[in-house]
Amino acid sequence: MNLPLDPPRITGPFEWSPSLGIERAHYIALQADDPSAAARFAVENMGLFLVHVDGDGRHYLAANGLDAYSLVYTPGRDGVVDHISYLAASFSALATAATRLETGGIAVERIARSPLWRHSPAIRFVFPNGTPIELSTGVNLPNPMGYIAPLPAGVPGPMSFDHAIVRAVDLKAGYDFAARSMGLRESGRILNPAGIPVLGFFRCHTLYHCFGLAHSPTDGLHHFQLTLKDSHQVIAAHEHMKARGKVELLWGPLRHGAGQNVAFYFKDAVGNIVEYSAEEELILDEDNYVPVTWSTSDSRPTDEWNKTKAPWARH
Ligand SMILES: [Fe+2]
Repeated sequence: MNLPLDPPRITGPFEWSPSLGIERAHYIALQADDPSAAARFAVENMGLFLVHVDGDGRHYLAANGLDAYSLVYTPGRDGVVDHISYLAASFSALATAATRLETGGIAVERIARSPLWRHSPAIRFVFPNGTPIELSTGVNLPNPMGYIAPLPAGVPGPMSFDHAIVRAVDLKAGYDFAARSMGLRESGRILNPAGIPVLGFFRCHTLYHCFGLAHSPTDGLHHFQLTLKDSHQVIAAHEHMKARGKVELLWGPLRHGAGQNVAFYFKDAVGNIVEYSAEEELILDEDNYVPVTWSTSDSRPTDEWNKTKAPWARH
């Protein structure tokens, strides 16, 4: 299936709304035909720790940072996002966010007692591509986890979930929702020759992106990412996986121009694309920062080192 020939052109930078109170990414919950097998693979190959299995069969995997868990495999269907969880600073921030979303005509589910393990009250709403988004509370940090948590002892040593990119057929609706409803700020975009963004990156705080959109003929997950301590850890993790031969490596190591993170990509047991990356750009001059526009004809936004494009790239 080809992409729509003439999707809505997105011009910008556009006006965004005040922050919804999203502080950072928390964890991603992904459905799996066999959550136990998916979790086992993550423990054996991805440097994660199985910290709990609940009565509904959810498998909770912790990284090496301060969050209780960063990845959850839930019983369901391979390839489906159960939900993406973000953090607000407090219960009152959750309530404020819920009210603002509802004022904007967005349906919000308030969850006083979450069925998930070690989980605060939460609110949920649905992104236009169908992805459930959750806001809850957790560990409040002054800076991104990768910059302040100690170096993990093991390799690979993922520390936190920091972003997911979702695929969206209706890119305009996704951009509007991310910027206006979720109050995320655009950090950069990659445009095709027709001027249509094929990738858009949004931040909720200083880290270059906590969320992104990939223009796609189908909705769903594009990839999720876990942060490592630094570029040395990224290279070491890649070498470790390559030497063991248990993981399907897809792309990298490389350095993205967009976001400046050093990264490589592989598949989890389910077939989801996973990014391990570090040293992502921090945007500290919030008032003066202008989103960067890149072209698909330029390989630097995807790979400054080797000038390659993602093996799954359509443009
Ligand atoms: Fe990414």
